[in-house]
Amino acid sequence: MRIGHVVGNWKLNGSLSGNETLLGSVKAAVPKAAGCRFGVCVPYPYLAQVKDLLAGSGVEWGGQDCSRFDKGAYTGEVSGAMLAEFGCTYAIVGHSERRTIFGDTDGVVAEKFAAARRAKLTAILCVGETLEERERGVTEEVLARQLDAVLENQGAAALDGALLAYEPVWAIGTGRTATVAQAQAAHAFLRGRVAKKDARVAEALPILYGGSVKAANAAELFAMPDVDGGLIGGASLVAEEFAAICQAAIARKG
Ligand code: PGA
Repeated sequence: MRIGHVVGNWKLNGSLSGNETLLGSVKAAVPKAAGCRFGVCVPYPYLAQVKDLLAGSGVEWGGQDCSRFDKGAYTGEVSGAMLAEFGCTYAIVGHSERRTIFGDTDGVVAEKFAAARRAKLTAILCVGETLEERERGVTEEVLARQLDAVLENQGAAALDGALLAYEPVWAIGTGRTATVAQAQAAHAFLRGRVAKKDARVAEALPILYGGSVKAANAAELFAMPDVDGGLIGGASLVAEEFAAICQAAIARKG
């Protein structure tokens, strides 16, 4: 059975006092559970605080991006080794907001993925189509291109120990979730593409769904055979919602 993961993505949200309140409630409500891992990816300045607040709890933490460079004259960047020093488990790479707003290309995302792995972080590679791409019928083509940037150049072994997240851009922050059938179809397509290279890696690869996941729809999404958890934006900022989503993962995997 694949490990389930529920990972919060706080995006550009948080404050020292707000984090303390939120994480106090989250860690009280989210137990350690066999077969499941839970985490929150927070803005960089909060990593030291979050490390102190979450150490020893059932909730791990991570960064929302990872520089493709390890060190040097790259103003504004944060390296994988720095994230690791702050106890991070996870590093998200290729989130659609990075791709569309900050211009991260498939090639840059692949380099960030490799950098996160060099630092022994659990890289979460995000892929997903826009509404226009879905309506044009090119969803699989887009997912294949984004996945292949890593798969073709770094090999299937690069995905061993990493996570994939399918996040349809039209479902992110919109309240419009993919149907369970749409999510399952995309996840099965992604797993199948990895399996063509390496069946063992594909079978073990957790593929998370992201895009307007909330307590009310988590259980039905996680019930799909190829949906192994979630990447949670808005609902990760509400302790009860996030905890309920984690419980839905435990109910399936625990
Ligand atoms: P959302 O965001 O849950 O608010 O839709 C998901 C994400 O961007 O990872």
